[in-house]
Amino acid sequence: MIKQRPNTAAGTRAESEGEGATGAPATPHDASPRKAAARSEKRRHTRRRFLKGMGALTLVAVGVPAHARYVEPNLIDVSEHTVYLPGLPQNSDGLRIVQLTDLHRGPVTPDDTIRQAVAAAAELKPDLFVLTGDYVKYDLADATPLADLLRPLAGKARLGLFGCLGNHDYADWTGNTMARALSDRAGVTMLRNESRLIEPGLFLAGIEDEVRGRPDIAKALTGAPADQEGATVVLAHNPRSVFSCDTRPLLMLSGHTHGGQIRIPGLAPRVPPDMKGFPLVDGWGRFDKAWLFVNRGVGMTGFPYRLGCRPEVSVITLRRGDGPPVRHGDLAEKAFRKAQKIASDARRLIG
Ligand SMILES: [Fe+2]
Repeated sequence: MIKQRPNTAAGTRAESEGEGATGAPATPHDASPRKAAARSEKRRHTRRRFLKGMGALTLVAVGVPAHARYVEPNLIDVSEHTVYLPGLPQNSDGLRIVQLTDLHRGPVTPDDTIRQAVAAAAELKPDLFVLTGDYVKYDLADATPLADLLRPLAGKARLGLFGCLGNHDYADWTGNTMARALSDRAGVTMLRNESRLIEPGLFLAGIEDEVRGRPDIAKALTGAPADQEGATVVLAHNPRSVFSCDTRPLLMLSGHTHGGQIRIPGLAPRVPPDMKGFPLVDGWGRFDKAWLFVNRGVGMTGFPYRLGCRPEVSVITLRRGDGPPVRHGDLAEKAFRKAQKIASDARRLIG
């Protein structure tokens, strides 16, 4: 006798809730509990993914600003470079320059950061120290404490300690307060549209700031060697100064941009308004006959953050010869060395 299945709502519910759970053989009616279990598992998975995502977002939202505020401003990057100058005298081949720039002593840059950078620079024992301006935030009351922070460099390089002024150093409209403090307390020779023959055939010039000073490159380069008869290094805070002297084969060392200070992938680096449109934010650039190096600086202005843009102490070795400048450790350097070796092997074979 065939048992009649109850044709009621209760009976239908019993089917869907009871039979599948008993482990009875699969029937089309067992699909519903499995689907419910799958839905529940999917919900749990989605919840777990959401919570993980929120955790990661929180970590980024808290961790990145904390890193930019408290960690990266103190991660001094000692970058090492070689630049080739065709007219460099033989006796200056291999000369090492250490550059510090944009120290910005004041409320935004901790003194400890400056101390660390100065200590790193002193440890490098170069032939020459150069400073390329922006020693304070703006307040010239910081000039004396900043000069004291630089004192460990005094008398530590055989060719001396030279500098130029940056746009933040003219709060007295003349730049004299800063120049005097650094000269009197830290032994800095400030080059203000003037130059020095620091070794036979090697000139070091410094010019006033492009924005707040009165740069006079012609005056600064009076007596500088002609092409191939020597080499010239120019200190200029603002990289734009290169346009006033790029018809000569010289090396210009600059700062001012802070390398953008906060660099977020996909966004343009933040640079001073006068640097908008300039093709270089940091590192090396070729402008007609001149090489320009822009250091990212040590301190900060505006926001007390550095992100993707560590403070920099640069070591630049001058070499006699031709070829693009290289940062040590770069693939470009390896490629250049390989090309040089191939060229010298070829020369030996031919001649
Ligand atoms: Fe600066």
